[in-house]
Amino acid sequence: MPLDHRALSARRLEVTLTDDVLIVHGGTPLQGQIRVRGAKNLVSKAMVAALLGETPSRLFDVPRIRDVEVVRGLLELHGVKVSDGAEDGELVMDPTNVESASTDEINVHAGSSRIPILLCGPLLHRLGHAFIPDLGGCHIGPRPIDFHIKALREFGAVVDKTPEGMHLSAPNGLHGAKLELPYPSVGATEQVLLTAVRAEGVTELRNAAIEPEIIDLICILQKMGAIITVHTDRMIEIQGVPRLYGYEHKPIPDRIEAASWAAAALATRGEIEVIGARQADMMTFLNVYRNIGGELKITDDRVARPGVSGAEGGIKFWHPGTELKAVALETDVHPGFMTDWQQPLVVALTQARGISIVHETVYEQRLGYTEALNSMGATIQVYRDCLGGTPCRFGRRNFMHSAVIAGPSKLHAADLVIPDLRAGFAHLIAALAAEGTSRVYGVNLIKRGYEDFEQKLAALGAHVERP
Ligand code: EPZ
Repeated sequence: MPLDHRALSARRLEVTLTDDVLIVHGGTPLQGQIRVRGAKNLVSKAMVAALLGETPSRLFDVPRIRDVEVVRGLLELHGVKVSDGAEDGELVMDPTNVESASTDEINVHAGSSRIPILLCGPLLHRLGHAFIPDLGGCHIGPRPIDFHIKALREFGAVVDKTPEGMHLSAPNGLHGAKLELPYPSVGATEQVLLTAVRAEGVTELRNAAIEPEIIDLICILQKMGAIITVHTDRMIEIQGVPRLYGYEHKPIPDRIEAASWAAAALATRGEIEVIGARQADMMTFLNVYRNIGGELKITDDRVARPGVSGAEGGIKFWHPGTELKAVALETDVHPGFMTDWQQPLVVALTQARGISIVHETVYEQRLGYTEALNSMGATIQVYRDCLGGTPCRFGRRNFMHSAVIAGPSKLHAADLVIPDLRAGFAHLIAALAAEGTSRVYGVNLIKRGYEDFEQKLAALGAHVERP
């Protein structure tokens, strides 16, 4: 499928007419320390899980990002009282009085995030019906929801798709099912977990996703009273229980944000310590980082730092000062190389000597952003073929899903328009690495997943300003 140029031009027009622009004076190595909080892709699901409890839940270390606001709004519409707790980043969610919301009210959130689809199971359990607006999220492929709908129907839900959204009911309640996903989808696995925990009987899910965020969601559900077993070979078994209670949970740190800053350190020849980053969730990324020539040092929690007792650990990432090396990598489901690590790291790969190959196997349209890098002086060619070691679902289907990056290239400043969240951060890194002054349009989109990114940039010594 070709790049959606019409959508891209419309977005260009939309954002260039606003003041949503960051002026980036590039060429300065980023240096310093920043902290990552709870993972966006866990926190939003943990908030949905709170709907299933009969008592309030407390979630800690919640980042101030737009996706959290969207889910908060949806919970509040359904009668959940959401308040900030005493601690910075603490969120208290009281689902005692869950109630129906009007279609119009829910539709205000149409197109803003992918998370609403995960409210299906919890709302069916609490209210017997649900309405899900048209979904949003990043435009990185068609992103169908067929796995979700099929699973919900197998649980006994009646799903009615209309132009305005999706109406669901469960006239005979929800019951356990034997399911197998065609692909280990993160969202569909979460859908099954959030539905099966209170469905009557046992659910078996084969070919499930086992990303660390999913294991953390399972931990939350177990805290709430669920009985879930993760077997070998991507099989998850869930014994339905009649009721669940609130939880208290500190989420896993955001490994995508951590890797994004690591890539920024490499691309700008800098040194960034990411406090909160956790080795166990990032092992595949760390191996690739080292193979490129990037340096890193891992500090565990509780390892004493001078003058700090009980200090929080993290990972320091830095450029070696010598030439970076080209690599070949394939994105994949966990424990493979995350698709969300891909775009920021490709910016660093434009600085490596030789030919790097990136085979994107999770999303069919996640390389469109390379055009912008080429406009800044990079040499990246995209291909329809599977250039990695293994043929993937997208081979022979006309998707430009492999990239060949020749480096090192001197990047120069440009006017850029951010197309989606992770590519957006990649654009930003490229502008920071480039000589000269770039204008990056649409930067507010980065707030969907990166807390306080402008403050963090300032802390790292970046020369950026709003016009
Ligand atoms: C989650 O998206 C994340 N989003 C994504 O992060 C992440 O890239 C992705 O998982 C993979 O790790 C959130 O957690 C909110 P999938 P999700 O279902 O759940 C196909 C970011 O920037 N598929 O695992 O939507 C799908 O098209 C975002 O933080 C179907 O065909 O991803 C894709 O090719 C971007 N039918 C593949 O599966 C379905 O019904 C994986 O998607 C569902 C998925």
